[in-house]
Amino acid sequence: MHNAALEVLELDWTYLAFEVHPDTLASTLRGARDLGVLGLNLTLPHKLLAMPLMDVLDDSAETYGAVNTVIYESQTSSGEWMPVGQLPEIRGPVRMRGANTDADALLRSLGEDLGIEPRSARILLLGAGGAARAAALRLADEGVGELWLVNRTTSKAEELAAEIRLRNPAVGVEVGYPSDTVDVVLNATSLGMKAGDPLPWDPARFSLDRADGVYDMVYRPAETVLLETARRSGCRTANGLGMLLYQGAAALELWTGRPAPVDAMRSALVSEVYGAP
Ligand SMILES: NC(=O)c1ccc[n+]([C@@H]2O[C@H](COP(=O)([O-])OP(=O)(O)OC[C@H]3O[C@@H](n4cnc5c(N)ncnc54)[C@H](OP(=O)(O)O)[C@@H]3O)[C@@H](O)[C@H]2O)c1
Repeated sequence: MHNAALEVLELDWTYLAFEVHPDTLASTLRGARDLGVLGLNLTLPHKLLAMPLMDVLDDSAETYGAVNTVIYESQTSSGEWMPVGQLPEIRGPVRMRGANTDADALLRSLGEDLGIEPRSARILLLGAGGAARAAALRLADEGVGELWLVNRTTSKAEELAAEIRLRNPAVGVEVGYPSDTVDVVLNATSLGMKAGDPLPWDPARFSLDRADGVYDMVYRPAETVLLETARRSGCRTANGLGMLLYQGAAALELWTGRPAPVDAMRSALVSEVYGAP
């Protein structure tokens, strides 16, 4: 999706994927800086490991405790730090700024794909890992109506609930299943990616008849077992492709300082992930 965008923006840049061992993350980030790389995206497990390696963190990374976008920055003649991709030349030191574009991307996708307006929505969130944490904290900041947290390791859901109560005391957050209806069930566990994965929640404890929509952060396969079950129960459904798209679009805007060509990015992403139509 990034290379499609770079073509539209007529930028002579290229976006490449590298597999990096966690033990070499620090030297990889420094090496990329020294090679003149303009920016990077990080995925698991690097999102958390990169936090202490950044020279400066955006509020987004600080809040969600994870970095998915690195921007290499240098100083202008007046001393202002700017992304190197937006500078005519690099002079002086280059620093690494860490940002997180995942949480905003989720909100945008929830709105576009399911018409969910987080403020006052009732949400059952499955998972308490990095993605769930970012989602829960962002939803709480938006003034979500009520949040239920369910995770295999209940202590992690309890820790997350405690963090939300501290940051947003007005937000109703509980660990466990709701007894009433919800606007959306949001899967932020990694279950659903592999064939044969079990459902990410206990259907005996909560029936999808009580959910209006179901959003699965997993996007491959396009229809997970959760989404198939939800569709059969009459729920509106969406997978995580929109979230993937918008976190990438936001990262591109940070590097280039220009609006991302979202339509070109979406079609490149769809054909890359699901194959040409
Ligand atoms: N669409 C997007 O753009 C986007 C962006 C970010 C993440 N994601 C997706 O979101 C998912 C979670 O990512 P993450 O970064 O939060 O990963 P993570 O930090 O490793 O968290 C994994 C979560 O899944 C749960 N889990 C894993 N295996 C399980 C099992 N066998 N049974 C029950 N629960 C299980 C974990 O529960 P425990 O706490 O009990 O281990 C934890 O809540 C992944 O599928 C990832 O691809 C999508």
